[in-house]
Amino acid sequence: MQNNDKNFKTMKKIILLSAMLFTAAIFISISATEDIVNNTIPGNEKYVVPEKVQAIIENKCFDCHNSNSKNMKGKMKLKFDKMAELKTHKLIGKLDNISEAVTEGDMPPKKAIKKYPDLKLTAEEIKTLSAWSNGLISKIAGE
Ligand code: HEC
Repeated sequence: MQNNDKNFKTMKKIILLSAMLFTAAIFISISATEDIVNNTIPGNEKYVVPEKVQAIIENKCFDCHNSNSKNMKGKMKLKFDKMAELKTHKLIGKLDNISEAVTEGDMPPKKAIKKYPDLKLTAEEIKTLSAWSNGLISKIAGE
C-alpha cells in the first residue's frame, strides 16, 4: 500500500515535470521562429523584419518557405530563414517577388487557402507585407 502511494507521487511528479517541459518547449520554438524570420547577420543588418511583419510571415508563409519545409517547390523559391545570407541583388529580387506575389494574390497559393482558409491574407496584411518589402528594397538599393 505504501509502495503504491510512493509510485503515485512519483507519477504525479513526472506528469508535472513533463507539462513544464512541454510549455517551455513551446515558448522556445516560438521565439526560435522569430529569430529565424528576422535572421539578420551581425554587422550586416540589411535584412530587417519588424515584429508585425514577422508575425504575418510566421503565420502565413513560413511553413512552406523555410529550409526544412516539406513543400519542395515553395522551399526552392524562397527560404525566409536564409534571406539574410543572400547577396544584395538576390535579396532585392526576392523582396520584389514577395511584393508582387502578395499584391497579385498569388500567395499563399489559392489551393492552400481552400484547404486552410486561415492562410488568406487580409487587405491590411497585404499592405504591410508589400510596404515592408518595397521599403526594404529602397533602403538597400539606396545604400
Ligand atoms: C502552402 C504552401 C505555401 C504558402 C503558405 C506560401 N507559399 Fe509561396 N510558394 C509556394 C509554392 C509551392 C511556390 C512555387 C510556385 C510555383 O513555382 O509555381 C511559392 C512561390 C513563392 C514565391 C516565388 C514567386 C516567384 O515569382 O517566383 C514567393 C515570392 C512566395 N511564394 C511568397 C510567399 C509569401 C510572402 C507567403 C505568405 C504570405 C507565401 N509565399 C505562402 C507555397 C506556399
